[in-house]
Parts: sequence; structure tokens; C-alpha cells
Amino acid sequence: MNIQDFIRVRRDKGKHTEAELREFCQLAARAEIPDYQISAWLMAAFLEPLSLDETVWLTKAMADSGERLDLSGLKRPWLDKHSTGGVGDKTTMVVLPVLAACGLTMVKMSGRGLGITGGTVDKLESIPGFRMDLSPTELVSQAGQIGIAITGQTAKLAPADGAFYALRDSVSAVENIPLIASSILSKKLAGGAEVVSIDVKCGSGGFMTGFESARQLGEMLREVGERCGLKVLIEITDMSQALGRTVGNSIEVREAIRVLQGEPGRLRDLCLILSGRALGAIGRDPDEARQALDSGQALEKAKAWVGAQGGDVRIFEDEALLALAPETLTLDAPVSGYLSRLDAGALGRAVVALGGGREQKGDAIDPSVGIEVFAEVGDHVMVGRPLLKVYARTNHEAYQALLSLRPAVGVSQTPVSPPPLILAAI
Ligand code: URA
Repeated sequence: MNIQDFIRVRRDKGKHTEAELREFCQLAARAEIPDYQISAWLMAAFLEPLSLDETVWLTKAMADSGERLDLSGLKRPWLDKHSTGGVGDKTTMVVLPVLAACGLTMVKMSGRGLGITGGTVDKLESIPGFRMDLSPTELVSQAGQIGIAITGQTAKLAPADGAFYALRDSVSAVENIPLIASSILSKKLAGGAEVVSIDVKCGSGGFMTGFESARQLGEMLREVGERCGLKVLIEITDMSQALGRTVGNSIEVREAIRVLQGEPGRLRDLCLILSGRALGAIGRDPDEARQALDSGQALEKAKAWVGAQGGDVRIFEDEALLALAPETLTLDAPVSGYLSRLDAGALGRAVVALGGGREQKGDAIDPSVGIEVFAEVGDHVMVGRPLLKVYARTNHEAYQALLSLRPAVGVSQTPVSPPPLILAAI
């Protein structure tokens, strides 16, 4: 295959064939194409979006660029859950144990942080000992035993997506509907899922900042997924403010544990909506999700899951094992009133700048930095009381973060309605 010709086709608004996309993915997966040529094609595909047919072909080609898991010996249904990525989005760490406690089988491949949004891989790796490199055999065996197994991008499953995902991040080619849809769905196909629940984040803390683009992504995910043989459930959810009370890596694991232990709030509400809809779609009572959480069964599943993947289960009793950076500063409410804005995008950028996300492919991240959020949009806030607390490695970095966060906050003198959690279901 001549890669220059392949790039030229995209650049000149031509159409790829299924065979070309398949070969490109195979070569990329075997690292037989240099990063600069893959990046050039990704940017061309960003500027000249793939058609629906091309997106279906790319999705299947990425899924077939490595092994595809065979879950046929495991209890059905085989479900996967995904989020397009949002600031403070830690739903996977709650939804998976809830649904496993309800008897579903979930094998999930997760990504690292991309752009301003965090990644489940980075969050789970902040748990001492947690392994994100399970082999295909280990994944299937663990899912059979406890109902959950999760892996990061490995050379075995959808390796072409692994190559593309990291490069898209470093060349600013993330926010493109066909590329996001094929990236997400290729991982679901490779993981052997038959039902997929996808949370499309909408707002400044996600890739889709406006409702219209989130709806288009949701529809493309459903259409492409169905053409690849998947049953796809789409929720479009609010990402104008951070989800829950924390942004970062260790700090988000701490919060997920608190929700599993019964803490109320928007994060719990969203986890129950996502889990309930998945149960409803397979003919079960959506309220089973709440029962699994309230009875403590989901918490027990989470402990079994963390232990099975080598993680230190003492984190469930001693959150100090999830390290937080030592230097802290708070951003206080400038006046009393109603919080009208707490821009999720600004929080995500601040965590990246603190070292909690990556600016370049392969950058190391610091799991201990982050932000604690004390108020949500609509809450009444008092002048001088903390709205945010920054955890940083140095006082200077904490101060810089605080400066960048000041414009992210708005306080109104009149009551403000909290934004709805669910904007649409497709
Ligand atoms: N999540 C993915 O898996 N891929 C993307 O491209 C964006 C979010």
C-alpha cells in the first residue's frame, strides 16, 4: 500500500475502500507506518470527515487489527459501557460493579486520558497494584468469575485504535464524530460485547460542546454500532460542570468508593440512570441497580474486582492509600449568591496543567494532583467559603491553577436552576 496515495485520497475529499482502510489499520497496528504519516491521515480525516460507510469499515478494521474476545462461554448478556469522556467522569468505577452485582457480564477496554478529559485507565492505575494489562485469556476468565474485567489499550485488542487514539490527542484531531465513533465502537467489538451503553457527554468538559454535535455523535454511534451488529443505548448527559465532586485520578477513585458506600449526589444519580437503562434494555427492572447499590452488593463486587486485578483492596477502608498531592489552595466564592457557572473545561485544563493529564503522547501523569469541588450549579454559596480546592505538587503550580480557575466561576444574585443531568436518550 502506498501511504502517500492513501493520505492524498482523504486530503482531496475522495473516498476510501473497505480494503484500503483494512490494510491501513493492519499496518498501523504492526507499527509499520511512521507516526507522522498516521498523524497526517488522521488530520486529513479530521478535516474531511469519513462517510457513514467508511466509518463502519474503519470500525470493523480497527476491531480486526488484533484479537476479538470470544465470550461465548460466559453468562449473557455481555454488556459494555462507555463514556465519550468528560471532566470528573468516573461512572465506570460505579456502574460496572452495580451491573455485575445484577448478574451481567462486562469485559471493558478503556482508554487513557485524552485532551482535557480524564481516562479510566489512568484513574484505575492510581490504585496501588492495579493491573490494566490483562491478557485476553485473563479477561475472559476474570469476567466469568466475577462479572467484570477491564483492560487498557493493549497490543492484543484493537491495536490500531491504540495507535490512532494517542496520536489524535497529540495533533489535536480528537473532536471528530466519525473518528470518535469508530474508536469507541472498535473497542466494544474487540471486547466481544453485544449490548453497549454509551454516555455522550455534552458541554465544555467533553469533546462535544454543543447539543447538536452531541446528538450527531449519538446518532452515528447508534447507526454504526447497529451496522456492526451491536445493540446500542445512547444517553446524552450534561458536561457543562464537572461530574461529581472531584477531578483528577486518585481523587476520583476516592469519590467513586464513597458513592459505592452510599454517598448521594449527581454522580450516584447518573450511575443509577445508566445502569437502570441498561437493565431495562435487556428486560430487567431498572430499580435493581439502586437495590444493588443500597444493599452493598455493588461495593462487594467492586472489592472483588479490584482484588482480582491486583489492586490493594485496603483502599476501601483507608482512602489515604490513594495519594493526594501535598500543596493545597482554595478558591473561595467571590460574593454570596447562587452558583451559575463552574466551567468543566477550565477544571479539566487546570488538572492537565497540574500534571494530571497529558499534553503529549506518552507523557507520564501524576495521579495525585486534582481538584475537589464543593458546590454545584444552582447551589447557594457564601462569600469567602471554598468553592474549589486544588491539590498540586508545588505551591506555585497550585497558585497557577487557581489563577486559571477564577474566570471559570460565576455567581448570580438570583436563584439558578441546576442543569438537567440527562439531555436526551437515543
Ligand atoms: N473515547 C474513545 O474511546 N475514543 C475517542 O476517540 C474519544 C473518546
